[in-house]
Amino acid sequence: MSNKNREELRNLGQFWTPGWIAKVMVAYFLDGKQKEIFDPAVGTGAFYTALKELDKKRQIKFYGTDIDKNVIKDAFNHKIFDNKSVVEVRDFIKEPPTKKISAIIANPPYIRHHRLSADTKKLLKQISYKYTGYDIDGRAGIHIYFLIQSLGLLKNGGKLSFIMPSDTCEGVFAKKLWNWIGNNYCIEKVITFESEATPFPNIDTNAIIFFISKNPKQSVFEWVRVKKESGQLLNYLLNKNCDFSDLEIIKRDTEEALFTGMSRRPTERSQYKYRLSDFAKVIRGIASGANDYFFITKQKAEELGIPGRYLKSALGRTRDMEGSVITLNDLKKLEEKGRPTLLLSLDNQRKEDLPKSLRNYIEIGEKNNLQYKALISTRNPWYKMEKRKPPKFLFAYLGRRNARFVMNQAGVIPLTSFLCVYPLFDDKKYVNKLWQILNNPKTINNLKLVGKSYGSGAVKVEPRSLANLPIPEEVVRRVGIEPMYTKEQQKTLFEFAYS
Ligand SMILES: C[S@@+](CC[C@H](N)C(=O)[O-])C[C@H]1O[C@@H](n2cnc3c(N)ncnc32)[C@H](O)[C@@H]1O
Repeated sequence: MSNKNREELRNLGQFWTPGWIAKVMVAYFLDGKQKEIFDPAVGTGAFYTALKELDKKRQIKFYGTDIDKNVIKDAFNHKIFDNKSVVEVRDFIKEPPTKKISAIIANPPYIRHHRLSADTKKLLKQISYKYTGYDIDGRAGIHIYFLIQSLGLLKNGGKLSFIMPSDTCEGVFAKKLWNWIGNNYCIEKVITFESEATPFPNIDTNAIIFFISKNPKQSVFEWVRVKKESGQLLNYLLNKNCDFSDLEIIKRDTEEALFTGMSRRPTERSQYKYRLSDFAKVIRGIASGANDYFFITKQKAEELGIPGRYLKSALGRTRDMEGSVITLNDLKKLEEKGRPTLLLSLDNQRKEDLPKSLRNYIEIGEKNNLQYKALISTRNPWYKMEKRKPPKFLFAYLGRRNARFVMNQAGVIPLTSFLCVYPLFDDKKYVNKLWQILNNPKTINNLKLVGKSYGSGAVKVEPRSLANLPIPEEVVRRVGIEPMYTKEQQKTLFEFAYS
């Protein structure tokens, strides 16, 4: 098939569905009644190949579109498509089918929002408004609009089978999206995967398959976790009665799943009495807007002659922090390795009131047009830095290694790879008890209830979600910490973090 580099693949979202998954997704339509299936993003024809194999009597006609003429041509050259299929080069977003459809299958292009043009984004907004009546948050990738437009094109009683990245359930836009789906469609089955069984081992995202129909909603559906790649998932879809030991099949309450998120395991809403917000406040690390410029090594600071009072100790990469405590000694080691450890932390001082060395450095920034960069241009003056008090704990939220809470004995201020965790009480005993709670494996295990998961098993957690982290009651009891505080205390401590 065609030879494209990784960048081109990313721009067109070309990640092919493996055969075992394509068959499972096609099996949903094999109810004996289906006459046609439409795939808006056919690519190399994974679903048609599966259909040819499973629909032995060849009763189902296949329609497909793809924006990339070369990929379609390749598939024709490889004799993937035949006279039972109609495939054309067409942009599904710009030129969707004009009539309603009874079956839609897709592995839509996974193109993140920052790769989309302003015109495309405008069109996507119109699509979401047309079908859902809402604006979906601009951070939704194009796959979300493939789903929305496809659901919008379904005939009454029609069925849809989509494989999507888990951000479909976990992104900032997810609540609105699922509110619309939950109220207007019937969620029939959802298939999720353990990392050992992931359909796309080389891509850092967890995949989920949704089987949804345009029927009245039902209160319970089957949620499946695939533990191991095997033929069992296909047998399950084909309603065969056999061994399903590679699958965990859960009858799940639709309302609960919509609330918790389809990518996550079921939770009982009342199961958790305590959340992290009962003990601490969470704020993201500093977004400098240009780390190369503002976040510098000790050696560079000395060469530039920047006085120490304008610099703050900071930490930029999760890789720079190895254990679960960061000390002054660790910081020194980073300096010795030539890693940046100092953040230029200016306030709104006028340039002319600053020492010459700094004026020179600011001019270098201006020559490089830093003052026009998106985030920096919102600051006045442009070199003014965000403020944080060094937090007691740092939370490293994205990395190949497990997410963890780190005791900040070095008094560093973290950049955006971390979240800052400020205990509601500052006394040593309380901080130490909270430390034990946060690092309890049962607490850490709950991160997957609030975080976004990636194929590699890593989790990313936003500040608001981390504040919502359920803290198991037994852990709270064992450590003997009381989430007792007044609203005033909370407020003062929060403001304290910014002062
Ligand atoms: C993730 S691939 C899936 C292909 C195939 N169905 C499969 O499952 O292997 C997505 C496909 O969408 C195509 N695509 C990207 N943008 C599109 C658009 N606006 N309209 C139609 N197809 C598009 C890409 O060229 C790519 O072939």
